[in-house]
Amino acid sequence: MAGLVPAIHVFSLDEEKTWMPGTRPGMTENVSKEHAMNVNIMNVDYSTKIPNNVNLSEDRQVLKALEGWHPGYMDWWSDMGPEGFQQSLVYLRTAYSVDPRGWAKFDYVKMPEYRWGILLAPQEENRVIPFGENFGKPAWQEVPGEHRATLRRLIVIQGDTEPASVEQQRHLGKTAPSLYDLRNLFQVNVEEGRHLWAMVYLLQKYFGRDGREEADELLRRRSGDADSPRMLGAFNEATPDWLSFFMFTYFTDRDGKMQLHSLAQSGFDPLSRTCRFMLTEEAHHMFVGETGISRVVQRTCEAMKAAGISDPTDIAKVRALGVIDLPTIQKKLNLHYSLSLDLFGSEVSTNAANAFNAGIKGRYKETQIEDDHQLKNATYPVLKLVDGVIKRVDEPALTALNMRLRDDYTQDCVKGLLRWNKIISLAGYNFKLTLPNVAFHRQIGEFRDIHATPDGVLIDDATWNSRKGEWLPSPDDGDFISSLMKPVTEIGQFASWISPPKVGIDNKPGDFEYVKIET
Ligand SMILES: [Fe+2]
Ligand SMILES: [Fe+2]
Repeated sequence: MAGLVPAIHVFSLDEEKTWMPGTRPGMTENVSKEHAMNVNIMNVDYSTKIPNNVNLSEDRQVLKALEGWHPGYMDWWSDMGPEGFQQSLVYLRTAYSVDPRGWAKFDYVKMPEYRWGILLAPQEENRVIPFGENFGKPAWQEVPGEHRATLRRLIVIQGDTEPASVEQQRHLGKTAPSLYDLRNLFQVNVEEGRHLWAMVYLLQKYFGRDGREEADELLRRRSGDADSPRMLGAFNEATPDWLSFFMFTYFTDRDGKMQLHSLAQSGFDPLSRTCRFMLTEEAHHMFVGETGISRVVQRTCEAMKAAGISDPTDIAKVRALGVIDLPTIQKKLNLHYSLSLDLFGSEVSTNAANAFNAGIKGRYKETQIEDDHQLKNATYPVLKLVDGVIKRVDEPALTALNMRLRDDYTQDCVKGLLRWNKIISLAGYNFKLTLPNVAFHRQIGEFRDIHATPDGVLIDDATWNSRKGEWLPSPDDGDFISSLMKPVTEIGQFASWISPPKVGIDNKPGDFEYVKIET
């Protein structure tokens, strides 16, 4: 099989660490000579208003459609993008190439002047569909008529999440704990904007009038709006503070990672190539989340130690130090993890089976899995509620694909917890952050109608109502965190509740001015 289905190796899709500062691939100067031949395909055309590597200048119809969409996007950015700072110079990376050895340039940019472009990973020659009933057949360069509706729906759902998160995060600039964090927030925001462009390009190029209408709708819906909300629950929740932002980028962007990985396997090649490049950017978002939470945990432990506090659950004492106590961090984690689990949909789903059979949406790391890639007779254990007890039940693997992806996601989440817990144990504290049971606080799937504790013990409504404040952030917790959210804009300074990062972005020193705030 390995010879037949080329693994995705053009980019390392693997982990956030790909984009740890200092380890990012080199710039064009380092591109070798034999590679220079490919530079034209890899480099981005900036001659049109919309930077791209898809030959837009020769695709007049799509260029026209995108140029027609552009003003609406700019209006959306000014209405719903980051509040304030639009005239500030922000030290941002801009994708200028899809060469994995050097694809981004760092420079000061005013956000509205960011070059949102359309970038697809290079086409793999002779790529075949790596799963489903069309396994081994050539990947599609056009949308197959019979799969049009399914593909459009998946692209719209993915596209809808991108602007949603920008909307959710738009107030955070006012309370950034440092210029470094402010810059990271804006980096995430402009890239989510680019991901919207990526999905809109697919809609406009491949889906005709329906696609153009969907592209307009993506600018019309608003996160949390009563009449016209975003499509998925977690993208209508508030992101009220920076701890939420870090949890969101760790847990919710990671759902995005899993979805993009599955779509990167798609038999519809333009979608696959688009998602592969998006994943390179997405890695940084999760890096922001993981290191953000690490730095909060670090600071809390340092402050407790310095004050001689031995019990990390002595919340009042810890809070008096101006840091966020570990039990509250756990509550935030419970909230964001459970909201993110809902994004995977029902555990058992015929839609998921159909999308897999059709060759539209694969599994996480599909090409690395050793099986028939068709799941004809396979089963998969699904957690279900059977006679009031949570049990594993074998289901046909085809219909259990959402569950499988969710399990992969959970495994991926665990890595961060290990790092955070190491910080706590190194500081000498006996406290562990944990992922709550999948039955906890669910709105979608098997457990939506029941209540369970984070340990997975089923409880009745009355118990849930009286105890939920122990497990999810209460209004008091929210007020306390809000009270810490005071902006710190002096160069190289950080708020009381968070440690400085170990390394700067683009290897910049600690006193680097990541954002030149306009006065
Ligand atoms: Fe994104
Ligand atoms: Fe993201």
